[in-house]
Amino acid sequence: MCGIVCYIGYREALPILLEGLKKLEYRGYDSAGISLLSGKSLETIKATGKIAALEEKIKNTPLDGFLGIGHTRWATHGAPTENNAHPHTSFDGKIAVVHNGIIENYAILKAKLQEEGIEFKSDTDTEVVAHLIARFYQGDLKKAVLQALAKLEGAFGLGVICKDQPDVLIGARRGSPLIFGIGDGGEYYLASDVSAIINYTQKVIYLDDNDIVIAKRNGYELQNLHSQIVQREVQNVDFDIESVAKGGFEHFMLKEIFEQPEALRNTMRGRLLINEGTAKLSGLDANIRELRSINRIIITACGTSYYAGMVGEYMIEELAGVPVEVEYASEFRYRNPIIKPGTLVLCISQSGETADTLAAMKEAHHKGATVLGICNAVGSSIARVSDGGVYLHAGPEIGVASTKAFSGQVLVLSMIALLLGRQRRVSFEQGMEIATAISKIPELVEETLKLNDAILEIAKKYKDAKNFLYLGRHYNYPVAMEGALKLKEISYIHAEGYPAAEMKHGPIALIDENMPVVVIAPKDALFDKILSNVREIKARGGKVIAITSEEKNPLDDIADDIVRIPNTISMLAPIITCIPLQLLAYHIAVLRGNNVDQPRNLAKSVTVE
Ligand code: G6P
Repeated sequence: MCGIVCYIGYREALPILLEGLKKLEYRGYDSAGISLLSGKSLETIKATGKIAALEEKIKNTPLDGFLGIGHTRWATHGAPTENNAHPHTSFDGKIAVVHNGIIENYAILKAKLQEEGIEFKSDTDTEVVAHLIARFYQGDLKKAVLQALAKLEGAFGLGVICKDQPDVLIGARRGSPLIFGIGDGGEYYLASDVSAIINYTQKVIYLDDNDIVIAKRNGYELQNLHSQIVQREVQNVDFDIESVAKGGFEHFMLKEIFEQPEALRNTMRGRLLINEGTAKLSGLDANIRELRSINRIIITACGTSYYAGMVGEYMIEELAGVPVEVEYASEFRYRNPIIKPGTLVLCISQSGETADTLAAMKEAHHKGATVLGICNAVGSSIARVSDGGVYLHAGPEIGVASTKAFSGQVLVLSMIALLLGRQRRVSFEQGMEIATAISKIPELVEETLKLNDAILEIAKKYKDAKNFLYLGRHYNYPVAMEGALKLKEISYIHAEGYPAAEMKHGPIALIDENMPVVVIAPKDALFDKILSNVREIKARGGKVIAITSEEKNPLDDIADDIVRIPNTISMLAPIITCIPLQLLAYHIAVLRGNNVDQPRNLAKSVTVE
């Protein structure tokens, strides 16, 4: 969740680092800092708050230099103070380090270093790394880094520079993402995320666990932690500068909400075989026979991806008749789950870097399961560790509150359900109907987005509410959970999602005229049931915002506000019904003056437990 950007080359490093840090701010942003080798001195400047605060501070101390490291921090060990911000420097002022991840044995290492007389300036786990490297350093930085890394337990993505070595930048990775960027003619970058360096190079190497890269202006060496040369493919990243900018929208979140028709088209491109009534997902080709014989699926994920997984559960059980369980990755990894032959584990993660999901995946591997991933970030850790999987191809998602990734995940799950269904009990004809319905989804999402202005008006009415309830049934129950999560994340209003019928077992006690209730009630088989739930709310004075189908229906006379969405088949409804909920949360948050793209206390990608 913290961000790293480092540079070595022939240009001024400072503007490159600052620009990279701004691109990374969405990952975590309680403080930031840079270290630069400026002439013979190693200068470090840090500031709490946004990168703008760091920039302001640097204005007074202009720095030049062609080698530097930068970091945006989201506190894990130690409060978000300037002392705890990275880079961390060693006791002798020679070494500067930026770090993502957690050093699990830092307390023991710290105690030993303190016994040797080293004074610590911060409460972080990272500071031990700087001191350890300095302890081992005798003129060979790589050797010192390797010796220090051998002492570390836990996860790291590291960038290291040394005052005596103006021509060396070292990166190392274990468990936290780190990308090595190759510029033109002796320029190199390190970044935790390609968006930080995409303006400068599209040629990257995704470092693997236990890789170390030593970059000098005349070339680079890639080795493992045992000093053996390793070969890694140089890849071309294909998203451009434009796609990470806001593209005319006020916020990334709004841009990403409006990108959904296009993103969904990209997700399904070449994957729907309408005339065969199925889907072809090339990332699953190698596992296709095995998929025929699986008899149980565990879906594991966190946050929004977890709710997409819940929709997936319903879809797969309905179409393929294979029992599915959905489990929070953080629970799965510590629970000694039962995995027998025939169990498939499906990990869903937008970023592909969520620590709990990655650990759940590894646990599933240890237990012998085949593990598939559904990720958006190409080349991410989860994508690389899985046995196969499907990319969303939804483009970079910058807004912390996930939107297009959710719709894309549900779409991918619908194609997986169709494929598994066709291997089992879905007929050719039924398969064609489903594939056709899937193909129409982007158009329907486009239509739904036209409701933006109407939803803004609803947002104005309810923006000051203290609590919200979201209700849905069947496929729309997970959407109710996701809608409530969106509102919580960016508007800071307490919200709960419930299966509509469960309301009478508790939440109904909360209902009065101050409680807006968002009811997701498209005209489907359960419409009459949910209508009764709405009547129960109205009888107690609650305010009902109904998300329902276009045709006239009894909700017209009962609900306080109506949002009419286009019809699709039940299993695909979540991709449509999630849109008004995203917009509602967005507008309420903007009206309340919140920072929607960087909500307080949240990070886009949670790479610590
Ligand atoms: C964080 C983000 C959420 C996201 C969750 C899982 O909490 O703020 O938006 O849903 O992580 O992330 P993943 O990248 O694994 O889908």
